[in-house]
Amino acid sequence: MSKFIAIASGKGGVGRTTLTYNLGVGMSLFGRNVVMLDLDLVMANLDVITGLLNPDVTLHDVLAKNRSIDECVYEIEQGIRVIPTGIHFETLRHINPKYISWNKILEEIADYGDIFLMDMPAGINSNIFEGLPENVEMIIVTNSTMTSVADALKIRILSNELNIQIIGFVLNMWYDDGFLLSVNEIESILEVPMIGIIPYDREVERSMALGKSVAEINPSSPTSNALMQLTAHLLGEEYKPIEPDKEGILNRLKKFIGMLPD
Ligand SMILES: Nc1ncnc2c1ncn2[C@@H]1O[C@H](COP(=O)(O)OP(=O)(O)OP(=O)(O)O)[C@@H](O)[C@H]1O
Ligand SMILES: [Mg+2]
Repeated sequence: MSKFIAIASGKGGVGRTTLTYNLGVGMSLFGRNVVMLDLDLVMANLDVITGLLNPDVTLHDVLAKNRSIDECVYEIEQGIRVIPTGIHFETLRHINPKYISWNKILEEIADYGDIFLMDMPAGINSNIFEGLPENVEMIIVTNSTMTSVADALKIRILSNELNIQIIGFVLNMWYDDGFLLSVNEIESILEVPMIGIIPYDREVERSMALGKSVAEINPSSPTSNALMQLTAHLLGEEYKPIEPDKEGILNRLKKFIGMLPD
């Protein structure tokens, strides 16, 4: 049976789209067919991150112009599909998110994949949450700042009111600083389990600039291991962290300075 996971946050810019993309690629590495949907109808990001610039048909066209959803499912790599959202204000004006039948849309695309990752808009204004079908589970993304956690709490409360099942929260862009909230503090504020801590890491920006996931660029980095661990957890799979190839580097160095034969 297909699994639907919404990636949400209260505050913008905390890393929802980045996480959606890295989880999607990670899940495909585990052999799953993944579909990533951009449900941020106003400030779409998935198109840019997946290199799908200016696609012919977008979710906007499906919602405003009666185009078929099949027309906007793009396979970007084997087993990875993206449903992008448009950027045209004119089309957007004709969409009332409150009346979108996500149930019907998700039913129609269910055959495209095993796992559906939904990149949600920040905040709660767009009413998209109200239309989510019952089988959607949610991950809340937050950073360790007060404002980010306070906004995550609003999403948690709203999700409870709407009976949306929350898998847990992901602490993204984490770094060790006594002034920031700790994992325990965030857990006790949100009252949902922490399911992943992703470090603050410039490799994330670098991998995005290269159009790749962190796991493809630097698989033994703590960030890649944290992302893959989370991916495995969501799939109910085992993941053994990849150790940095220290011996390999040392031997290459020794060979270079003549301590070992070539
Ligand atoms: N763990 C991380 N370490 C460092 N940079 C990160 C990390 N996660 C995301 N970023 C960077 O932070 C920026 C914001 O990420 P992203 O666009 O995924 O956030 P978002 O929550 O989707 O934002 P928006 O609300 O605008 O949709 C991007 O430049 C991204 O590369
Ligand atoms: Mg985004």
